[in-house]
Amino acid sequence: MRLDRYLVTLGIGSRTEVQKLIRSGVVTVDGNPVRDPGFACREPADLTLRGETLDTRLMRHVMLHKPAGLLTAARDKKQPTVMDLLPPVYAAIGCMPVGRLDKDTTGLLLLSCDGELNHRLLAPQRHVDKTYLAHVDGELTPAMADAFAAGLDLGDFVTQGAALTILEPHLAQLTIHEGKFHQVKRMFEHVGLTVTALHRSSFGPLTLPEDLPEGQWRELTAEETAAVYQSAQMEAKL
Ligand code: URA
Repeated sequence: MRLDRYLVTLGIGSRTEVQKLIRSGVVTVDGNPVRDPGFACREPADLTLRGETLDTRLMRHVMLHKPAGLLTAARDKKQPTVMDLLPPVYAAIGCMPVGRLDKDTTGLLLLSCDGELNHRLLAPQRHVDKTYLAHVDGELTPAMADAFAAGLDLGDFVTQGAALTILEPHLAQLTIHEGKFHQVKRMFEHVGLTVTALHRSSFGPLTLPEDLPEGQWRELTAEETAAVYQSAQMEAKL
């Protein structure tokens, strides 16, 4: 990638601003000052700006503890999105939510710059398990757990067998294998219950860490990244 474009992508400034910086000699590539904005860099490049090493990784994977009230979208003209919780560089390098949580749903959301990974994890044949905690407005019964395990005919599709564990009269843990639009809420509606609060505690091999408060995020560890790629049957891109 051209040096000027690289710096723009990393959020250092506009094309004009970074070209000025480069021409002034404050940018090094592999330890050498480079004054040519069109200099071809490998990725990730070894760059410094005014003596400070830049984080030039263009491939990053993030887990976010999504709070309620934000849209799961890469951008939206009117409403705040989960991307607003991350430094702008993540959007600039193409980090996108993998799948979607409703605006009022909280919990684990994976974001990645790897479009193929994103696509594969969402493919229905991939069966990436997702576990939710659901508060409902009526009484949960063992018969409901049996119905969820057998699969529910929601009209446009029949759900795969899902594991419903009743934790309290109005609180259940549910593991599903697909991720259709509003699936969990629709499943409970089918048995006559309304979900009053929904929280995702795990996605594939990832579990929301207890020390990651709502609204906070962190990059995946190398182990977590490897596990996510393995679940997508892909070679890991770190
Ligand atoms: N199912 C839903 O109904 N909502 C979510 O946010 C996720 C799964």
